[in-house]
Parts: sequence; structure tokens; C-alpha cells
Amino acid sequence: ESGYISYDESYGNTGSCQSEITFINGEKGILRYRGYPIEDLAEHSSFLESTYLIIYGELPTQSQLDAFRNKVRDSAEVHVGMEHHFDGFPTGSHPMAILSAMLNSLGCYYPEMSTNNRQQDLESFDDAVAVLLSKVRTLAAMSYRMQVGKHFIYPKHKLRYSENFLHMMFSDPYQDYDDSSGLAHALDLFFLLHADHEQNCSTSTVRMVASGGANLFASVSAGVCALWGPLHGGANQAVIRMLQEIHDSGDDGRRFIESAKSGDAKLMGFGHRVYKNYDPRARILGKAAEKVLSAIGYEDDPLLNIARNLEQAALEDDYFVERKLYPNVDFYSGLILKAAGIPPEFFTVMFAIGRMPGWLANWHEVASDEKARIHRPRQVYQGPGVRDYVPIENR
Ligand code: SDX
Repeated sequence: ESGYISYDESYGNTGSCQSEITFINGEKGILRYRGYPIEDLAEHSSFLESTYLIIYGELPTQSQLDAFRNKVRDSAEVHVGMEHHFDGFPTGSHPMAILSAMLNSLGCYYPEMSTNNRQQDLESFDDAVAVLLSKVRTLAAMSYRMQVGKHFIYPKHKLRYSENFLHMMFSDPYQDYDDSSGLAHALDLFFLLHADHEQNCSTSTVRMVASGGANLFASVSAGVCALWGPLHGGANQAVIRMLQEIHDSGDDGRRFIESAKSGDAKLMGFGHRVYKNYDPRARILGKAAEKVLSAIGYEDDPLLNIARNLEQAALEDDYFVERKLYPNVDFYSGLILKAAGIPPEFFTVMFAIGRMPGWLANWHEVASDEKARIHRPRQVYQGPGVRDYVPIENR
């Protein structure tokens, strides 16, 4: 009657799960993919190489990486039938709503990979990985082209992963996208840093859906919906809006810090459920943002200056220090996306493209675990005790 639920073997519900993919130490600000520190991967690896590591557990040999890269490259186009889906979305539809719908619809074009028969879906996993990794980019670019009223641009075989994405976003029939400012490399680093992050809200959603036996397409579509929330993946868009509003108000950030301390505002891009130290990804993205902005001649971008002011002020202020609030992955990432010409409403879509490897790896970890049971969290019941029914005339 009290409704108190403790750990119970029959439910298998401990509120945590076991995984071999990503390790985080929140107190020390440590993040590793399959044991490799994020700092080393950011410096030496690429998004696709780290994707291979996250999904298959080991860094690939050259021939493995070449085969993986070619498989992803060859999966970039979508069935022409999917182009008509875009006709049904009203202009101004949020790209995260479009992406979650399109990823689930994608499964309809691959019935052999979305059977909801665990064994069959596992057998086609490698093919489904290439389909989803490659086409999440294509679908994202198509939703952008639809929003701006432009023809879809087809992928080009000779382009690398991130460059092909920018090509599909910004090329025109008469003028190919020019990556001379090296933004594709910055985007590749952005994707790599977002590739997995333990049991965050969206990844644990993917595991929840996978635990019921649902296929990969349905599971990652649910992950997109969870990521959309402003406290999770939606924060990168909120950070840029916050920096712009601070700039437009003539504040250098100090006034805003006071409003955050009084509870009148949230310092978006700060704080974390796990990191009670600097998010290592924020450190890397902060440097990358400076490099990208300088490469395109924006070294004095006012929003970067405000971000640096906020960071400095917060790191010295007791309110933030006592609550262990540090910059997280979203604090600087929006500056890179803005420099790449990505509209703010697409920032969380970019997070989803980056997080796809983690969702795929976590789906596989659940689906391939023979002992895995359906995730069925219990609750602490706090409603009324048993009551007799009252006929409506007596209420
Ligand atoms: C991501 O889980 C993951 O791994 C997620 C992620 C990933 O890679 O998947 O890392 C990506 O989601 C990063 C987080 C992006 N969200 C934001 O930047 C939104 C702003 N941050 C906050 O909403 C908040 O910090 C959370 C949601 C991120 C974490 O919330 P917590 O740990 O539950 O902290 P809390 O809400 O309990 O706050 C503790 C205190 C409160 O003050 P008091 O009640 O003690 O007086 O800190 C304050 C909060 O008011 N606080 C903030 C703050 N975050 C917390 N005050 C001002 N600004 C903030 N950002």
C-alpha cells in the first residue's frame, strides 16, 4: 500500500544499466569511448573512425575503416519515395519533428532490417548501421532544403562524411559548396564529440525502446524525440539565443549572470547531471570555436566574447562554484554551427547526427544481450488508497 519499491530481482530494475561503450567520471571530468580518452580521439581520430570504435568496440585497421567508409558512402541516397514525404510537412515544421518521423519511415523502405524479430534485426545490423549513419545526414539536409524552398542536392561519392553533408545542405545546381575555410573538419570534430555519452536522456530512451524488441529505426526515432528537449539536446539552440539576447541588450554578460543567480534565468550550456567538473567536450569545443571563427575572419565575434565573459564570471562566482556548474558540451558548440551557416533550429538535428553512433551501439548492446529483459521501471505510488465507486448522481 505504501507504494515503496526497492530493488527487485523479478523486475531487474536497478535504475542503472551495464554497458561497455562509454565511461564518464563526472567528478574528474573524464570521458572515454571504449577506453580511449576523448582528448586523444579529438586530436587523432575522425568521426567515422570513432563511430566504428563505438559500435564495434575496437579502432579499425585501415582496410576495415576503408570498407566501413565506403559502405556508409554508398548508403547516402534515399529512396525517391521519401522525397514526397516532405510535401506533407507544413512549412516551418521543426526539423526535429521531421527527422524523427523520417527515421521511422526509413525503416519502411528496409523491411528486412526492421522486422522487430530480434535475431533478424541483429543479422542485418551492419547494413542498418550504414543506412542510418549515412541517411540521417541526407534527411537532415533535405529538411533544410525544404525549409528554404530549394531543390534537394544529391550526395557526392567523392566527398568525406561531413563535407558531403555541407554539400547537400549548401551546394546549388550551378555552384558546389566550397569548403576552403575547413568547416567540414570542425563539423567532423563536433560530430565526434557528440557521438556517445553514457546513459543520457536520449540514449536511455533508445535502450528502453530496444528492450521491448523494437527495431533500430523505431528506437533511434524515439531517441530523436528525447533529444529535442531544451534541457538536453535543445540546449545548443538555447545557448545561441541566450548569447544573442545578451548581446542585443548591450550587456557584456555580467547582468545576465546576476539574473541566473537570482533564478530569473538559466545559464544555458552550463551545468550537467553527471559532470560536476568541466565537461571535457566543452574545453575542446571552446578552442575549436575560436579556431573556426578566426578561419572565417570572425575572431572578434561578439557572441564568442560574451561566452568567454560568462564562462570567466561563472567560474569565479560562488553561486556556480558551490553548485558545481561548469560549461557543458552545448556552451560553445552553437558558435561552430552558426559559423558553418547552420540555422539555430537545426542545431539539435546536428546533435542527433553526431549521437547516432551511440544510439546504434546501445541498441545493439540491448538487442544482443540474451539476458536482457524489457525495461520496466517501477514507481513510488503516492495516490489515494482503495476507494468504493460513487454513482454519478451522488457525486
Ligand atoms: C546535455 O546527460 C547527458 O550526458 C547529456 C549530454 C549528452 O551528451 O547527452 O551531456 C547533453 O544534455 C548537456 C546539458 C544541456 N542542458 C543545458 O545546458 C540546460 C541548462 N542546464 C540545466 O538545465 C541543468 O544544469 C541540467 C538539466 C543540465 C542539470 O540539471 P541538474 O543536475 O538536475 O541540476 P539541478 O536542476 O538540480 O540544479 C542544481 C542547482 C539548482 O539551484 P538550487 O535549487 O540548488 O538553488 O543548480 C542550479 C539550479 O537552479 N542550476 C542552474 C543551472 N543548472 C542548474 N542555475 C543556472 N543556470 C543553470 N544552467
